[in-house]
This record gives sequence, structure tokens and C-alpha cells, in this order.
Amino acid sequence: MKIEQVLETYDEAYAEAYNNTFLTDIHSQTKTKHELKILTHLLSEKGTEARWLDVACGTGYYLSCFPEIQRAGLDISPAMLNIARRKNPEIPLIQGNFRDKSLVKKGEWDIISSMWWAYSFAESISEIEILIANIFDWLTDDGVCFMPICNPAKNLYSGQTNIPYVACENAPAYGGKILVTAVIWSWIESNGKRHDNMLVPQMEYMVEMFKKHFSTVEIVEYANGFYWGILAAKKERQFTNICSELTSESTTPTANLSPTQYSNFLNKFIRKLFHLRS
Ligand SMILES: C[S@@+](CC[C@H](N)C(=O)[O-])C[C@H]1O[C@@H](n2cnc3c(N)ncnc32)[C@H](O)[C@@H]1O
Repeated sequence: MKIEQVLETYDEAYAEAYNNTFLTDIHSQTKTKHELKILTHLLSEKGTEARWLDVACGTGYYLSCFPEIQRAGLDISPAMLNIARRKNPEIPLIQGNFRDKSLVKKGEWDIISSMWWAYSFAESISEIEILIANIFDWLTDDGVCFMPICNPAKNLYSGQTNIPYVACENAPAYGGKILVTAVIWSWIESNGKRHDNMLVPQMEYMVEMFKKHFSTVEIVEYANGFYWGILAAKKERQFTNICSELTSESTTPTANLSPTQYSNFLNKFIRKLFHLRS
């Protein structure tokens, strides 16, 4: 999607209605709730000194849910940032393009998120690669990135069509492998607003791009199997168990929990027990 269109689409009226339309509305509230749980967990692991940057923060909704955390946002849309400022008056909010590495200091952030498929507003795969490289650069050495991603087969086709990443292992005529690396799609809203040529790399390709920089890259599935996110860390670690525990209703600990993960699980379990008894 072209920057001019991003700015045109995300105008004052759109920004004003954004949270009620795309975050707390009936279609998205479960997704939002699960994402807040994941962020809560990641932030609590880092403790009270955690520093969190939300890239393409929009109206700053997610940031506003954690007032106790040192945090900042970055977005290209002045209209979206106006709302973010209203909700988060005391924090740094940077207006600019997530392609621009110089906007953010290197190695400053423990957690970097980029919510609601904001990467798919990039105009090319190279721009998505730049965004991922920037996030790597902006994170501390043991920093963690959380990026919800679009799963083209499920989110765009409602599960009716599966577009394989590897289209052909041995291509006819010229040989070699054929990969369908990304899907380009447009959303023309009933009010006439346009999201033209959104770029969605296949999930496998997103993981490959992250793996060029990060030593751990995992996909988490949440909100009843309708949404996916990438968790990436510069250093080796395991996310999957804690995320499946956090995003399901189950209170049974899964195997291989680290001491921190296990203590978080116990905390949650005890809170549930207390709640049941009171
Ligand atoms: C779908 S909204 C998501 C907003 C927010 N992350 C959320 O989950 O509510 C996409 C956001 O990406 C921002 N955006 C799009 N392209 C951008 C770019 N190149 N640099 C920074 N922000 C961008 C838009 O202004 C918009 O606020």
C-alpha cells in the first residue's frame, strides 16, 4: 500500500472510530484479549524495568493498557498518533516510517511489537525485510519481538483455500523449486476507504525472514486458532509452551517449562484457585 494512501485512509474520522471498529468490536475483541495476555506475559518476564516499543502503534490502544511500563510508539499517520497522544499523554510517540532505522536508538528496547499486520502495509518484500532488520537493531541483546501475522490461507480465504508455500519441488521444463512467497490483496471497505495491494508473505516465508536475524523464531496460534503471531528472540529460548498455556483455558502445565515459566504458571493457578474459593 502506498504511503499516500495510508495517510489518506487513516484520517481523523477513521482514527477516531478505529478502536471501536477494529480492536474492541465483536469481531476482534477475542483476538485483542489474547494479544494483551501475550504482551502481559512478555512484559512481566522482563520485570518493572521493561522498555517496550510498539511499531505502527496506531491509536496507541495496546500501549494504553500498560501504563506502568516504560513505553513508546511509532506510526506514520498523524491522525492515528493524535489519538495515541490523547490516550498516552506522557510517553514518546514518534511520527515516521518504520523503514527508517535512524528514528529509533539501537539496542534500547526489551520488547518490540507491531500489531494488526502493520507490516503488510509495506510496498515490497524488501521493505518488510528492512522492518525486521530494524526491529532486530532496535532491540536489546536479549530482546523479544511479538508480531501478529496474517495467515493468507486462513485469514484471507476463511480456510476455503490453501495456497502452498512450496508450489512445485521440481518445476517442469526448467527444473528447480517454485515458491509462492506472498499474496497481494486489497480491501475496499463499504464506506469507500481503500487498502490497496496489501502485501502478505506466507507464514513460512515470514519465519525465514525473521530467522536471518533472530536465533529463536516461533509461531504462536491464539484466539481459538484464528490468529497467529511470530515470537522472535535474539537469544535461544522457548516460547511455545507458555503461549499455548496462556492462550488456552487449560490450567495444566505443559512439559519443558523454564523456572520462570513454571513460576508464572503457578501464579496463575493460585490466582484461579483463590478466585474459585472466594
Ligand atoms: C491496521 S493499523 C494497526 C494499528 C495498531 N498497530 C493496532 O493494532 O491497533 C496499521 C497502522 O500502520 C501504520 N503504518 C502503515 N505503514 C506504516 C509505515 N510505513 N511506517 C509506520 N507506520 C505505518 C498506519 O498508520 C496504521 O496506524
